[in-house]
Amino acid sequence: MKRLLVTGAAGFIGANFVHYWLSQHADDRVVVLDALTYAGNLETLMPLMDKPNFRFVKGNIGNTELVELLLREEQIDTLVHFAAESHVDRSITGPDAFVETNIIGTHSLLKAARSVWLADPANPLPHRFHHVSTDEVYGTLGANDPAFTEQTQYAPNSPYSASKAASDHLVRAYHHTYGLNVTTSNCSNNYGYYHFPEKLIPLCLTNILEGKPLPIYGDGKQIRDWLFVEDHCRGIELVLQKGVTGETYNIGGVNEWQNIDIVNLLCELMDGEFAADASLAERYPQSPCAQGKPANSLITYVKDRAGHDRRYAIDCSKIERELGFKPAETFETGVRKTVRWYLDNQSWVDNVKSGAYQTWIDQQYTKRK
Ligand code: NAD
Ligand code: DAU
Repeated sequence: MKRLLVTGAAGFIGANFVHYWLSQHADDRVVVLDALTYAGNLETLMPLMDKPNFRFVKGNIGNTELVELLLREEQIDTLVHFAAESHVDRSITGPDAFVETNIIGTHSLLKAARSVWLADPANPLPHRFHHVSTDEVYGTLGANDPAFTEQTQYAPNSPYSASKAASDHLVRAYHHTYGLNVTTSNCSNNYGYYHFPEKLIPLCLTNILEGKPLPIYGDGKQIRDWLFVEDHCRGIELVLQKGVTGETYNIGGVNEWQNIDIVNLLCELMDGEFAADASLAERYPQSPCAQGKPANSLITYVKDRAGHDRRYAIDCSKIERELGFKPAETFETGVRKTVRWYLDNQSWVDNVKSGAYQTWIDQQYTKRK
């Protein structure tokens, strides 16, 4: 039985991870540490709150003493680190928070892990520190370049990716210098449930329903490699179970799409949903799909993102070969499920966007403490 501390699990991937983990490892102890920034939503974790082996702690990864306390008190043997500032556009307008959370925050976790797990370096406690990182640390690819491997030189281009790269280096250094038992995974773009509607796919889905423009940066021909979020969680599970300490593993979907093609696909799928279900027009009267117009009538080309990376593609042959990883979801099925999820969970979207539920749940949580 494992005892996990999962940081950032009120956000998109971390939340999917803890739901997935407890569905597969029902007896494990899972403690979540999350600061509940704008991107964190406790509503996503509510179904787990009454489980005796689940605990939510509102707190900052930069609070080293708190992390040390949790590691000791909960006898944690596995730390899975998702907490981050994750949106590239926000890193361009406000990089400080990215340095604070992604670099200094990760370092705070490493310090806590070292002081508890390696208190007696000759007799370390059994432990694993898994760091969740991104393919963006490798920079950008030309149209005919081979995909990023674990050997690709780091060349981060945005304040976000630079802060993630710095955190990857700190994790590596704590292994090399102090012998901390670490693994790192670098994953491509995720999509799926509980995705904050500032990122391309959920932004477009929610804007179609609200009749708002679908902003396409630049020429829309930038390429991303999309993976269903639960497959990312499976990949991390394999790294935790079979990964070699000190190693890094690329995780990806081998599924490259131009942004404009993804947006057109989402529009077609939404058109199809409205055509098949008349009640959607009543629920979403602002949508062009409710007014006899195609969703792609909302596509609007806008100014490009500064320093916009042209193409990402992940070579995930190492994790496939060494740990047996294969995505379970095809893009066709995953994206359909995702469209359906956003149609069925507009209250989650409204709440996460307004922050209303978060404020309310925060008060409930404080009262319950
Ligand atoms: P997200 O923005 O949806 O969630 C981040 C979570 O971290 C939120 O719940 C937030 O409240 C929490 N958090 C932020 N600062 C914190 C702090 N100082 N202390 C404690 N909690 C804090 O992010 P995401 O998309 O779920 O990404 C999770 C991780 O995966 C990140 O490290 C990101 O770099 C990495 N990643 C994301 C993707 C992707 O496509 N989204 C792909 C590869 C890697
Ligand atoms: O590659 C992994 C990364 O994927 C993660 O590390 C990041 O945390 C995650 O946010 C994501 O970064 P991207 O910048 O690729 O994702 P985003 O959804 O912001 O944008 C995807 C592409 O779509 C990108 O080329 C920019 C473009 N875009 C985005 C938005 C929000 C638009 O054209 N219009 C938009 O409105």
